[in-house]
Amino acid sequence: MRITVLGTGYLGATHAACMAEMGFDVLGMDTDPEKISALSTGTPPFYEPGLERLVRRHLKSGRLRFTSSYSDVEKFAGDALTLHFLCVGTPEKKTDRAADLRFLEEAIDRLAVVLRGPSLVVGKSTVPVGTAERLARRLRENAPAGAHVELAWNPEFLREGYAIGDTLAPARLVFGVSSPRAESLLREVYRIPLDRGVPLVVTDLPTAELVKVSANAFLATKISFINAMAEVCESTGADVTHLARALAHDPRIGGQYLLPGLGFGGGCLPKDLRAFQVRAGELGVGHTLGFLREVDAVNLRRRRRMVDLTRERCGGSFRGKRVAAWGAAFKPGSDDIRDSPALSVSASIQLQGAEVTVYDPKASDNAYKSFPNLTFASSALEAATGADVLLHLTEWQEFRELDPAVVGAVVTTRQVIDGRNTLDARRWHEAGWSFHALGRPARR
Ligand code: UDX
Repeated sequence: MRITVLGTGYLGATHAACMAEMGFDVLGMDTDPEKISALSTGTPPFYEPGLERLVRRHLKSGRLRFTSSYSDVEKFAGDALTLHFLCVGTPEKKTDRAADLRFLEEAIDRLAVVLRGPSLVVGKSTVPVGTAERLARRLRENAPAGAHVELAWNPEFLREGYAIGDTLAPARLVFGVSSPRAESLLREVYRIPLDRGVPLVVTDLPTAELVKVSANAFLATKISFINAMAEVCESTGADVTHLARALAHDPRIGGQYLLPGLGFGGGCLPKDLRAFQVRAGELGVGHTLGFLREVDAVNLRRRRRMVDLTRERCGGSFRGKRVAAWGAAFKPGSDDIRDSPALSVSASIQLQGAEVTVYDPKASDNAYKSFPNLTFASSALEAATGADVLLHLTEWQEFRELDPAVVGAVVTTRQVIDGRNTLDARRWHEAGWSFHALGRPARR
């Protein structure tokens, strides 16, 4: 069995490399020649721990190659049984915040005409429910006469920063299928994780599509729940980190996705949440998901609260103030800045008149391209030098390990605001810092 992976962003590049690791012959295809030339030389165009090593290993083993041409997809598949995984992006439309399916439709149309031998097309992209059945029809209409074409849906739940582990050893597998043949082909592809006992849910196409968007909506809701509690804590002097810890001990609640702070960002949770609401509206059940609007609102309010708290620490105005921002990526372990809460806070403070110096261990280059008005430092200490307020915006391990006394020696005023609730408040306070955090009482 051969594998092609259409779209080599985070999802596709990781999937292609992991399929090669599982022993398959894999061709990764992307219409962006720059991405393809980077991957072909073993240099993924984004930071993902372990991916570069895996790509290099399988470029060398000969099981992995990349192309930007559909005719190579046709040649690679030939008459062999081939599974084509659709991993192209479904970004947020500027107009109505629905998912933009242009790239997916284009991929289906261009793939359909090159299908010759036995195949299964497997969607992995996150899509509005109902898309798979529509794409299956489109595939049949565009495929050469007599070709046996079939579509299945196999949503992906990988997290950036853990993409390889999440792909090789997922928490569960979901197969949306319309025939026993599709199920048995997917079972064959995922034989290794299935043999290791990874739970499998076999279902229909719309349910498989819904699993992905509802999982993301649930995670976003959990984060906004604890952040709403942080708002309540702020109004009463309670400590949301203690509250979260106590809630987490209840196994029915659990501790994951309960870290209060600046909230969620990235390329998935925010956009999927909005697209899900738009789709529910189209289906006539928009009211049912009304609470997701509030989930989004709580999330965005945390960013404004961070800006307000910083202004307060600057004495009521940002004019002439220097603010140090630790973190730019939407989360640690990633150089992704899409919808990054950290950068949204920094940009807003800079727009209101402060000089903001940002340091991020991995995302500074990406951040500079989109936010050239911010100043970028090459170390956490350099960013902090001369600062009136220090903001902790992305919880990289590196920031936790820094000695607050050493940082205290370079700032103008020892004021820190922990936007991620992962710094050791007592340690910073003992080193002479005035310590503030989202959802916790201040230590002055
Ligand atoms: C997410 C889903 O986890 C994954 O299953 C899906 O396939 C894609 O979207 P990812 O975007 O990589 O993955 O990020 P994730 O690790 O889930 O974090 C999302 C955001 O939530 C980050 O901004 C993170 O900082 C924030 N977060 C997470 C919190 O604010 N608190 C938490 O407790 C957990």
